[in-house]
Formats: sequence, structure tokens, C-alpha cells
Amino acid sequence: MSYFTVKVYPPRLEQIEELVALDNCCLGGLWSFDSYKRELESPNSHFLVLSLDSNQSILGCGCFWEILEEAHITLLMIEPNYQGQGFGQLLLYCLLKDAVKRKLERATLEVSASNQPALALYQKFGFQLAGRRKGYYRHTGEDALVLWRNNLHYPQFQEELSIWEKQINARFNQVNENLEFRI
Ligand SMILES: CC(C)(COP(=O)(O)OP(=O)(O)OC[C@H]1O[C@@H](n2cnc3c(N)ncnc32)[C@H](O)[C@@H]1OP(=O)(O)O)[C@@H](O)C(=O)NCCC(=O)NCCS
Repeated sequence: MSYFTVKVYPPRLEQIEELVALDNCCLGGLWSFDSYKRELESPNSHFLVLSLDSNQSILGCGCFWEILEEAHITLLMIEPNYQGQGFGQLLLYCLLKDAVKRKLERATLEVSASNQPALALYQKFGFQLAGRRKGYYRHTGEDALVLWRNNLHYPQFQEELSIWEKQINARFNQVNENLEFRI
């Protein structure tokens, strides 16, 4: 049996080029080098990236802004070759856990109305539809759906986090027959 670890950690400034490349292939170039630099240096912007210890390159990235008691999720992306293997849900789980650690009470985000994979992921984690912003995405003219996840500070949410952690590990073991993941 081979073992390797999925590492989730805050990125360093010298990894910005890698983040821009990942952004280009996952999101079509949402944020520039300068945007990442500004965000990484902002005390209110909390990033997590994901890589495998067998391959140090960044495979995924998520970020939220801490605004009063809210976590506004601004980024969530997984390198296309690694999508559909449970990494997106691991990253979202880690972002929400970080938000709880920071004593935030709610999480919110905007997602394109046609982005079925992302919508399914957010629904799985209990996000609910709160509204729609017409023509929010200027380049496509598409609407954004506004989703909220409340009660992050309730004890029940801690229980949900524990259940998700077990499910995420079970999923990794199922997808990678001879590999065990350790978060
Ligand atoms: C959205 C995204 C982060 C999901 O990451 P991922 O690693 O592929 O997702 P996972 O393998 O962890 O899947 C977790 C859940 O997401 C949903 N999901 C993922 N891919 C899906 C697909 N192709 N169709 C439907 N649901 C999907 C499912 O609910 C899935 O749970 P399940 O496997 O138990 O059914 C990834 O597709 C991505 O980077 N997309 C491009 C960037 C983007 O759109 N980001 C969101 C911006 S708001």
C-alpha cells in the first residue's frame, strides 16, 4: 500500500505565478498577478491551497473575505485533471472550518446560475439560495445566484463538519483503491 498526504495550507507570495496559472485554466483569468498579491497581503483575505506531497504543485485554491461575522467565499477552483475526485469538497470543508475557527457566523458566495458542479457542491454543504444578481458576470452577461450558509457558530455545525470529514476520507479511499489519503 502506498501512502500520500493531501496538504491544505495558506499559500506563500512566491506561489502567485502558480495561482495565476491555475486561475487561468479554472476560471478563465478571474484575478491577475496584482490581484492575488493584493489579496494575499490583505489581513481580511484568507487563502488555502491544496497539493499532494508526491507532487508539490498547487492543484486547488480557495479564499474567503472576512467581513464582520461573514465569510464571503471569493474563490474555489480545482485543476481540471483533478476535478471529480473529492478535492473541491475537501477545500470547501477546510474553508468552512477556518471560518468557524475565526468565529464567523455565516458564509456566502456568488455562483453562475449555469455552474451545475459548483451549485451541487454548495448545496451538498447546506448552502441555500438567497437571491439572484442579474447580468452579474460582465463577460457572459450571465446571472449570479447568491447562496448563504447560516449558523456556522452553532454546535450542530461542528457535528456536520465531523461527518463531512469522514465522508471526504471515505471518498478518497474509494476513488484511489491502493492509496490512503491523510488530510
Ligand atoms: C466546482 C469545483 C471546485 C468542484 O471541485 P471538484 O473537485 O471537481 O468536486 P468534488 O470532486 O469534490 O465533488 C464534490 C461534489 O461537487 C458536486 N460535483 C462535482 N462535480 C460535479 C459535476 N461534474 N456535476 C455535478 N455535480 C458535481 C457533487 O455534489 C460532488 O459530490 P458527489 O461526488 O458526492 O456527487 C470544480 O469543478 C472547479 O474548479 N470548477 C471550475 C471553477 C469553478 O467553477 N469554481 C466555482 C466558482 S463559484
